[in-house]
Amino acid sequence: MMTLEQLGQRHSVRSFSPEPLPDSILRSLKAEITDINTHEAGMHFQLVVNDDSAFRGFRKSYGFFSNPRNYIAAVVDKSYPCTLRKAGYFAEQLVMKSVELGLGTCFVGGTFDAASVPVQIRADWKILFVVLLGYAEKDKKRAMDRIITKIIHRKEPDWKAFYVDKGISLDEALIKQPALETALKALLTAPSALNKRPVRLTLDSDNKIVAFLPESAKDREIDLGIAIWNLEAAVGDVLRFPHDECEETYQPAEHQ
Ligand SMILES: Cc1cc2nc3c(=O)[nH]c(=O)nc-3n(C[C@H](O)[C@H](O)[C@H](O)COP(=O)(O)O)c2cc1C
Repeated sequence: MMTLEQLGQRHSVRSFSPEPLPDSILRSLKAEITDINTHEAGMHFQLVVNDDSAFRGFRKSYGFFSNPRNYIAAVVDKSYPCTLRKAGYFAEQLVMKSVELGLGTCFVGGTFDAASVPVQIRADWKILFVVLLGYAEKDKKRAMDRIITKIIHRKEPDWKAFYVDKGISLDEALIKQPALETALKALLTAPSALNKRPVRLTLDSDNKIVAFLPESAKDREIDLGIAIWNLEAAVGDVLRFPHDECEETYQPAEHQ
């Protein structure tokens, strides 16, 4: 379990120091990645160290990163079900592990050259996104980094807006399930593509919190998986979430 404060420690970092990652950190990350790949069908996360070739062509876009040299590639075998959601979920686990190890992170959906990512890809495997890792460049927070953060974080939304009344009003739901407030606040700590925050929560008749994507955002399965990890970390088993039921279609890795 994690507190809201721990979850809130993560913020996207887009400027990294050139300092190489120490072996002890690389070992911890590799161990966590191997554990996920061994136990979770269809997951083939791979760590790329000291190689920026996938980012060389994207200097002037949304993905304007400084020193993007270390990252985890979210490689999945798309012949397995629910791989978008699972990749989001386990990537967020790796992100929070990285934060615990003192690293800054940033999910990158489209602004990298998938053909230049030096990882093993077999038939049916696909790189869904990558997660940049590294020490945040603290002193020289670049102008571009500040601008992106400002555009994306125009206003922190109200946690109450993420509840959907499906027969139980928010006021009633907060009495029936006191962990709902923490869950709604935990949702706000989860990263999402373009900060669109598509995931919503509701309460079912057993007072379990249910996370879902509304009709207008059915393709945001990666964001749903990420949010579920944060929700489980914050409220544990009062969350009802069927990990193995999903409707998903593959989205090309475009600008996310
Ligand atoms: C699936 C996914 C793809 C993303 N792609 C990019 C990207 O291409 N470039 C970028 O700068 N940030 C990207 N982000 C980071 C989001 O913009 C960021 O998480 C969001 O604005 C919330 O900010 P925070 O992470 O600081 O809380 C992505 C996030 C997710 C979850």
